[in-house]
Amino acid sequence: MNDATPSTIEQSEDCAIRLEGVTKRFGDFTAVERIDLRIRRGEFFSLLGPSGCGKTTTLRMIAGFEEPSEGAILLDGVDVARLPPYRRNVNTVFQNYALFPHLNVEKNVGFGLKRKKLPKHEIAARVSDALRMVELGDRATYKPDQLSGGMQQRVALARALVNLPSVLLLDEPLGALDLKLRRQMQLELKHIHENVGITFIYVTHDQEEALTMSDRIAVMNMGTVEQVGSPEELYESPKSRFVAGFIGTSNFIESVVTWNATEGTISLGDGERVIIEVPEDGSRPGSVELSVRPEKIRLRESGEEVQSGQCMLRGTVRDVVYLGMTTQYSLHIPSLDRVFNVLEQNVEIASDQTLWVTGEEAYLTWHPSHNRMLPTSGA
Ligand SMILES: Nc1ncnc2c1ncn2[C@@H]1O[C@H](COP(=O)(O)OP(=O)(O)O)[C@@H](O)[C@H]1O
Ligand SMILES: [Mg+2]
Repeated sequence: MNDATPSTIEQSEDCAIRLEGVTKRFGDFTAVERIDLRIRRGEFFSLLGPSGCGKTTTLRMIAGFEEPSEGAILLDGVDVARLPPYRRNVNTVFQNYALFPHLNVEKNVGFGLKRKKLPKHEIAARVSDALRMVELGDRATYKPDQLSGGMQQRVALARALVNLPSVLLLDEPLGALDLKLRRQMQLELKHIHENVGITFIYVTHDQEEALTMSDRIAVMNMGTVEQVGSPEELYESPKSRFVAGFIGTSNFIESVVTWNATEGTISLGDGERVIIEVPEDGSRPGSVELSVRPEKIRLRESGEEVQSGQCMLRGTVRDVVYLGMTTQYSLHIPSLDRVFNVLEQNVEIASDQTLWVTGEEAYLTWHPSHNRMLPTSGA
């Protein structure tokens, strides 16, 4: 279908990888549906989504282990969709990194080069470079079982880097590590990425992991890409309910709006109201779905103190979770018959302000600029 030939556009945009209309079917089941992606050279790019959404399948098509049913995959502007893995300048690091237990670190890393019958001195030089990149230069003679889990994962990484790939594919490589080690490895991986300057494509179902490491993230859901953006763009400006709910936590309001020249108002009884700004495209939709992040909301004792123009809802405190730096509240909103999450910084608690308690009535207020308007399901 897509007969894209190498063109200068990809080169000039510094696009390392481009997916155009990529679809993968297994029998009747469509695992990946018409994905378009442009990944920049040197970028740390993540595919993020729940289990089964098609991340691994997408990665395997880039690696060449799976052939797309439709579409084109361009590496450095050349369509490789039908080339075998060894003809592509990419390497993959999996979660089960399977090092050879009887070989030391150096021999594990040099194994592939030796099989390719490269000259000994070249193997030695490249292995030593790769080990330096992952900061294991001093462990060259250790056996895998003499290393921690995190170090073993770095050996696996060196084994891929030694091939000097232009792209490194990583499929949940930290999935087997415990939380503390995983957090540490996330930062180490990010540093390694900065040092080597290779394009990384990283698969994870963990939103925090993706936010920590990535330059940009593609959020996937049921075989499609919902949104591509920087961590900040995805968090601050989600374009769909799925993204708003999957990246962090969001509170949702579906309602009917009345518009005047400058703003729209949602009235929710008892004087409670939510004000929305006219969207950039100038449209004034009759019904909307809004999302607002928990940390943008403040709790107040009465509605009267609220500045005009602020959004306001009345609620009853249901749960209070004191987390040290912050306190997490959930409040039932009678007019919406829905529970909202609110996150407050514990800045004042040490002086005279106390925490809210279960059963108390509170007003939730926030600035209208924190509302995000999402397409309603009918649209
Ligand atoms: N070889 C295969 N044959 C049939 N179905 C498959 C095959 N590989 C993956 N799938 C299905 O495709 C969907 C996406 O799988 P996968 O890409 O592994 O998801 P993820 O990595 O996001 O968890 C899943 O429903 C999975 O069961
Ligand atoms: Mg997977």
